[in-house]
Amino acid sequence: MNFHILTRFPDMVEQGLSASILGRAEQAGLISVHAVNIRDYTEDRHLHVDDYPYGGGAGMVMQPGPVVKAVRSVQEKLDRPARVIYLSPQGKTFSQPMARELAREEDLILLCGHYEGLDERAIELVVTEQVSIGDYVLTGGELAAMVMVDAIARMVPGVLTNSESAEEESFMQGLLEYPQYTRPEVFEGKAVPEVLLSGHHANIAAWRRRESLRRTLAARPELLDRAELSKKDRAWLDELRREMSGPDGGDT
Ligand code: ADE
Repeated sequence: MNFHILTRFPDMVEQGLSASILGRAEQAGLISVHAVNIRDYTEDRHLHVDDYPYGGGAGMVMQPGPVVKAVRSVQEKLDRPARVIYLSPQGKTFSQPMARELAREEDLILLCGHYEGLDERAIELVVTEQVSIGDYVLTGGELAAMVMVDAIARMVPGVLTNSESAEEESFMQGLLEYPQYTRPEVFEGKAVPEVLLSGHHANIAAWRRRESLRRTLAARPELLDRAELSKKDRAWLDELRREMSGPDGGDT
């Protein structure tokens, strides 16, 4: 899968996405990240890509010319038109299902805005969808694009090894992840839960499931409305609700 990131800060994006698992995936030819400098498409003598807003107001607006030209130049090199995502707080909120769905694309164009935004005509002409990574405002779309690339790339088959596999992880089953422990067995007086040392696989699986439910109930209860829950899960949830509303806040 190929990510084409249109930005004023290509180094930031390339460096940010070349380490660890994504770097390995790129080396293996499973993904590629191309950062395209929007500035290369300006016809302005001073290489400006922004200007004052019509109607007045604070800040600068990215001009449509260089952005539209940069998007079209990427599209021309592709066999078929790619989706063009503009990173913006006005967009639909990014989510795990969205990451999974976008991972099926061969090419994806991610457009990073800066300043006070992008001229609306560029959005109308070349953008197919707008995506936000959350209800807060960043100084630019670069970090948001990097977040999206990371979450999408790990859904591309082969990017994660078996042991890293996404199968069991949070959000996959609609629940938060259970706690993990490694050596040492006791750290600063805190011991690893007994059951994890037992070698009893069914008990371990049950404990983990119950912990996932506990965490989800405590931190993100709204996820439980959409999670796939068994009868046993529902019984555990009843128990956990009682524990949590108990006198000690259920910390046991
Ligand atoms: N650009 C600025 N803020 C953003 C956000 N929250 N998500 C995506 N792009 C952005």
